[in-house]
Amino acid sequence: MTAHRIDFSEVEKRLGVSRRTFLKFCAGVAASLGLPASAAQAMAEAVADPKRRPPVIWLHGQECTGPSESLLRSEQPSLEHLILDLISLDYHQTLDAGAGHFVEDIKKKTMAENKGKYLLVIEGAIPVKDDGIYCKIGGETMLHITHEAAEHAAAIVAFGSCAAWGGVQAAEPNPTGATGAPQVLKGKNVVSIPGCPPNPANFLGTVLYFVTYGKLPPLDDKGRPKWAYSRLIHENCYRRPHFDAGRFATEFGDEGHRKGWCLYKLGCKGPETYNNCPSLEFNNVGGNVWPVGVGHPCFGCSEDGVGFSKPLFSLSDVKTHTPPNMFPDIADRQETGGLSATGAALAGAAVGTAVGASLMAAKKLKEAEGSVTDQEE
Ligand code: SF4
Ligand code: F3S
Repeated sequence: MTAHRIDFSEVEKRLGVSRRTFLKFCAGVAASLGLPASAAQAMAEAVADPKRRPPVIWLHGQECTGPSESLLRSEQPSLEHLILDLISLDYHQTLDAGAGHFVEDIKKKTMAENKGKYLLVIEGAIPVKDDGIYCKIGGETMLHITHEAAEHAAAIVAFGSCAAWGGVQAAEPNPTGATGAPQVLKGKNVVSIPGCPPNPANFLGTVLYFVTYGKLPPLDDKGRPKWAYSRLIHENCYRRPHFDAGRFATEFGDEGHRKGWCLYKLGCKGPETYNNCPSLEFNNVGGNVWPVGVGHPCFGCSEDGVGFSKPLFSLSDVKTHTPPNMFPDIADRQETGGLSATGAALAGAAVGTAVGASLMAAKKLKEAEGSVTDQEE
């Protein structure tokens, strides 16, 4: 990668990272986004040029501030630092030092002076029932504020599950009519980055793409960036060999749980949730820090119709059926805890039965678990 046009001394000073770390970071983001190596150069130039920082208006609706908290707790190299350097955060309802009319005036000025150029980030759901009276900021409803800020935005980011599709507020019976930004702003250019909390790296990659190319990255049918949400958690989960071999934890703290076996029977929704948690993990601290990595079933926080909709104890629909090639083969009977290689393959194949797949899976996996128990007894 050649980067002779970039003033690295300035970048190093601003970001507090070395040139090498900075270029490695850009190359890593480009690779995560599925872009060629040349994109890393374009991204490095975009980050290095302070004039390309888009003004950002950041609104909060019904939520717990989890997405902002998640962003501020990212570490090494500090994503928070990179993000806040990459954008000009002109208005953020929880981070602004000022308050009242002073900051509201700044918001209005930013919108008026940057029509068609600013990025609107929405965190939290928007209640639409009774003309939106259930969430007001500065005397205006979130519904009104959202429409007002969206009118001249270059692009809109719905950050977190609440903003993407309503989140926990939208769970039945949804008394306030909590709704996601894409549904409120139909016809607008909205990208959803769901998660509870969402991974700040997914926000950074999306914004970096926008700053570099002046448009949003390719999106899936739910408006999510394909580079981050095209794979099921179950496809990349490090516990997947246990699923394929029929080894399950059945209670928190039981032997299977202590041994790191699959959490499917504890209600893991990884088989029907699209997100990149297994590969990105959280907060760059290492040590497998993501829900399944620390022993808790995925509850589908980023998937509309799963998180906050399906009870945690219910079994997941299994969308993928055959083990991917990259996982190790099942070695032998002892290694699989009493399940023969053929038996394990059959159990896996049963999961793939097209009709009534999840029922068959549950049945076969129960049998498989019986084999494990028998052997151990
Ligand atoms: Fe991992 Fe959950 Fe799939 Fe088991 S069911 S392999 S714990 S994602
Ligand atoms: Fe959420 Fe599941 Fe990832 S609960 S953070 S989508 S592992």
